[in-house]
Amino acid sequence: MLNRPRRNRSSAAIRTMVEENRLSVKDLLFPLFVMDGSATKTEIKSMPGIYRFTTDLLLKEIEECLNLGITSYALFPQVAEDRKDSLATESHRQGSLYLEAIHAVASRFPEISMLTDVAMDPYSSDGHDGIVKNGEILNDETLEVLSKMAVAQAQAGSKLIGPSDMMDGRVGYLRESLDDAGFTNVGIMAYSAKYASAFYGPFRDALESAPKFGDKKTYQMNPANSREALREAELDELEGADFLMVKPALAYLDIISLLRDNTNLPIAAYNVSGEYAMVKAAAANGWIDGEKAMLESLLSMKRAGAQVILTYFAKEFAQLKLS
Ligand code: PBG
Repeated sequence: MLNRPRRNRSSAAIRTMVEENRLSVKDLLFPLFVMDGSATKTEIKSMPGIYRFTTDLLLKEIEECLNLGITSYALFPQVAEDRKDSLATESHRQGSLYLEAIHAVASRFPEISMLTDVAMDPYSSDGHDGIVKNGEILNDETLEVLSKMAVAQAQAGSKLIGPSDMMDGRVGYLRESLDDAGFTNVGIMAYSAKYASAFYGPFRDALESAPKFGDKKTYQMNPANSREALREAELDELEGADFLMVKPALAYLDIISLLRDNTNLPIAAYNVSGEYAMVKAAAANGWIDGEKAMLESLLSMKRAGAQVILTYFAKEFAQLKLS
């Protein structure tokens, strides 16, 4: 036999030599949750090992993760129910929990990269990503709220914003708002291909932000579509996005690969809460090896073409000190 592919698998050393992709902590971005109060952290039931932190403990957590080599983060707020309203006014109120937390993190850790979230759902009494009128999610009226939010976050010290809804034209609108306010160097990570997915459940538990009626199918994408993802990606690129994201990751590896082949922008993949929860639940039952399943799924996202992986596994991965 001339060709024996097994020769290149015959020892750990040769397998390492020929491996095409290698994960590093530098590939990972760690999403964190902040809540009101002090000296408290509470574990999210459906996401074992993941906590909401009060701002003081959030700073400690970032310090610890930074020492493990994690340099990129995302931050999401859990907003008290009595601060929510239909226009998400809390999202751009000076002195709000989120803006103060951004300011605290940005001043204490100027060297890190932190993606800040621009979407109405954490602050919306309707639990939707846009303004609701007669059961409809309005697009252009929502853009104005997003614009106030983005500028307020930039003023608080954010260098990278992530509009995580799926409104039309939001990247261009926010690019112009940031530029007009003098924030030409604040980047935009576009949630270009964000699907209407069942895998966001645990995240909505974490923020208590589940929609109060209906679903998100009139703005988030239909899981049946891939050409539509290309269209969304092209629009975001034209509107000035600095990164394109695919979300969720595991059930959408083909989309990561499709975008990788069709743009020169960096591609981010969001390994979402439900994907994390599935591995944790099966591992807790002794049904799979959680650590191996984590490594294999993160590697698959990198192999598909993701340059950045947003994952709740970031700290656990970093603690393994693999490289
Ligand atoms: C909403 C938002 C969601 C996530 C991030 N931003 C949920 C949703 O669209 O309902 C999900 C992240 C995760 O599941 O880890 N703007």
